[in-house]
Amino acid sequence: MKQTTITKRTHGLKGEITIPGDKSISHRSVMFGAIANGITEVTGFLKGADCLSTIGCFRSLGIDIREESGKILIHGKGLHGLSAPSGTLDTGNSGTTTRLISGILAGQPFTSVLSGDASLNTRPMGRIMEPLSSMGAHITSVGENNCAPLKIEPGTLHGIQYHSKVASAQVKSAILLAGLYADGETSVTEPVLSRNHTELMLNGFGAAVTARTETDGRATASITPCEDLYGQKITVPGDISSAAYFIAAGLLVPGSEILIRNVGINPTRAGILKVCEDMGADISYLNRESAGGEPTADLLVKYSPLKGTEVSGSIIPTLIDEIPMIAVLAAFAGGKTVIKDAAELKVKETNRIDTVTENLKAMGAKITPTDDGMIIEGTGSLNGAQINSYLDHRIAMAFSIAGLAAEGETVIGNSQCVDVSYPTFFETIHSL
Ligand code: S3P
Repeated sequence: MKQTTITKRTHGLKGEITIPGDKSISHRSVMFGAIANGITEVTGFLKGADCLSTIGCFRSLGIDIREESGKILIHGKGLHGLSAPSGTLDTGNSGTTTRLISGILAGQPFTSVLSGDASLNTRPMGRIMEPLSSMGAHITSVGENNCAPLKIEPGTLHGIQYHSKVASAQVKSAILLAGLYADGETSVTEPVLSRNHTELMLNGFGAAVTARTETDGRATASITPCEDLYGQKITVPGDISSAAYFIAAGLLVPGSEILIRNVGINPTRAGILKVCEDMGADISYLNRESAGGEPTADLLVKYSPLKGTEVSGSIIPTLIDEIPMIAVLAAFAGGKTVIKDAAELKVKETNRIDTVTENLKAMGAKITPTDDGMIIEGTGSLNGAQINSYLDHRIAMAFSIAGLAAEGETVIGNSQCVDVSYPTFFETIHSL
């Protein structure tokens, strides 16, 4: 159902919130649980539309997945236990579902076809088709445009050493998952380390994954095929990409003090915290803990006057999904912010260089798009405006927060798209 949301300038957001589970970790818990032996029990699973697409796909592949007492139980059938789906696997809006599942399907003895929504079916899949094909997979783009729908037919997989041009956890994970079905070791080298949830969690399931980072920043993950994976109990931390909106709300709205509970702060994801600190943010870390190799903390965020900064280089993959929110922070800050080395923004749910620029301009910001990012001259204030989310959940959320600190009223079109990663986003705003 189409929805429009209006946010208005507010004052003094105060309270304590708990952020829904991490999207990347939730996807992986279902995927790895499905190909493990025995039951995987997931606490804190994110029931956003993207992760429900992953559940839907694995149910179509014969896996029993149910919810009991708030936990998701995946009855894994082992590495070779998936069965042929009767129809096309629907991956919805989810790049993670599409790319990671392709790595698993490349190793199966049956044919499958994957397809998603209009946005997903325009996103680049050549980046996984190329390495998977060189492993021996038979993966083709049905429309011959390197996009989904993808057809994956049985193939015999060989271990490869792959050097990826992009730092992408989705590419890395697809190759490592195919590596489970290969005849020898598979390794992926990326220019800088992307999120490492696959490496951490696959090891927890009993796979042999090693990781190393060179002094120049290049990072390599390797996997040796194993006989079996074993079902696990997984506790999913709160998603820092979702926490980002409330970190920003706390920093931008005068008089605010927000305690955000149980946020995943894995260093391959936590770049937003470093950038906020560089901009002058007052954020304290409380109750640090760790589960399954994933560190967490409660974050206490207080209203802070912000200054411009540069966001570039190896930090980019650790905050790539947070750039729309960082751009809004930069517009409210004093001085110039330069975001570069972030050309990957162009191939997200929308081209986020374009969608951020268009919407920030509508709010009166001084922003210049570049080929790999944007330059923002912070003016300290924005005006309410009509925002076009283009059905991109992160645009809808970043600009809803902008509306809480902007003059007048901000109207977010198609705001229901927040369901992709944060179905209770607007309720959480109201709770503050
Ligand atoms: C994700 C990896 C990132 C990120 C996406 C989730 C993952 O994409 O933008 O939202 O779970 O592996 P890339 O790997 O394409 O950078």
